[in-house]
Amino acid sequence: MQFDRLHEFPIKEFHNVPRGLIGAGAYELVGVEAKNLGFKKTLLMTSGLRGTDIVDDIAGKLRHQGIDVVVFDKVESNPKDYNVMDAYQVYKDEGLDSFVSVGGGSTHDACKGARIVAAHDGRNINEFEGFNQSTNPVNPPHIAISTTAGTGSETSWAYVITDTSDPENPHKYVAFDDRSIATLAICDPILYYDLPTDLTAFCGFDILAHGSEPYVSRLDFPPSLGQAYTAVEWTNKWLRKAVAEPHNYEARTGLMWAHYIAAQAFNSGGLGIVHSISHAVSAFYDSHHGLNNAIALPHVWEYNLSARYERYAHLAKAMGVETKGLSTVQRAEAAVEAAIRLADDVGIPKNFKEVGEYSKNRMNEGVYEGKGRQIKGDENDVERISKHILGDSCTPGNPMEVTYERMKPVVRAALSGSR
Ligand SMILES: [Fe+2]
Repeated sequence: MQFDRLHEFPIKEFHNVPRGLIGAGAYELVGVEAKNLGFKKTLLMTSGLRGTDIVDDIAGKLRHQGIDVVVFDKVESNPKDYNVMDAYQVYKDEGLDSFVSVGGGSTHDACKGARIVAAHDGRNINEFEGFNQSTNPVNPPHIAISTTAGTGSETSWAYVITDTSDPENPHKYVAFDDRSIATLAICDPILYYDLPTDLTAFCGFDILAHGSEPYVSRLDFPPSLGQAYTAVEWTNKWLRKAVAEPHNYEARTGLMWAHYIAAQAFNSGGLGIVHSISHAVSAFYDSHHGLNNAIALPHVWEYNLSARYERYAHLAKAMGVETKGLSTVQRAEAAVEAAIRLADDVGIPKNFKEVGEYSKNRMNEGVYEGKGRQIKGDENDVERISKHILGDSCTPGNPMEVTYERMKPVVRAALSGSR
């Protein structure tokens, strides 16, 4: 076992994180910070943040410092390749020099992609799938402001894009690229107050996945373990409260820190097949990343358990389980039970087939139009999702070996089984 791990990941790699401004009021510094970074004409990217005045507020702060702002508000959830290319086109046509992304992971990811495209004379974003595929180290500067506690994209080297070049077989991929990291990350819990409660819950499970996956990963990166554990602990501690009381400052702040450090944990510590399943379901149904993680997570913990009993036993404690008197295996099993309890408490659907309407739901819009709003969960889904998992950049980090045949029952259970 030890030999296998040495063979697979002989050298650990630390990936940088950008400078960050974190805390209540941090976003108000965006104008001054942009000016200090030399922004003159910037592309403000967003999904629109309907129902809030956050975009106008931030554009105003930039303009107040004499910076021209062009708003691109067409980023979709699970950003598509064409979102990235359209944003780049506006950046180029308007002669801009910098980027500001305001939103959750989709907006930051599309923005990171647009910067990579800008640094490579408009080459198609899908050419950069994989690890460090960009060749030009000089990107336009980028301030990333998060309006959700979940993604961590503002501080990570990852961005996730859906390749729609074959509409019958869309492919959602992760690009890990040291050159994609933002210039400045801004996290401000006040901006989360507008996040609907269902999305708060979904994003919370993105944090739980970002924390737990590096904690058990084959990469086994020691500097990530403390952050990963604390992220799980704080998510469990604050998520119920943030869902119950969206304007609870302590809960929103607790989740902000959990999100920030969880992303830094996986940045060098890797992810696993909670994310691989999640990407596959989004590729085919455009469903919310955090929602997918939330449904997949207990099944994946269960699947991985015997490969990492001890680590999952630690996570039981982080999940608030009273572990005194329990064996390691019992504690590990209790971690799964605690994750299920959390999912139940914050209103996560039991399986993918039970996913109904939720806030800002985009399922089956755009390129997916006309395919129906429900996740089918039939054997065709089981097969295509299991296949998609095998090609995901997050899969090699998973502690338990992943094969097509072994994935099928896990995927089947997540699609239509009980937790
Ligand atoms: Fe994620």
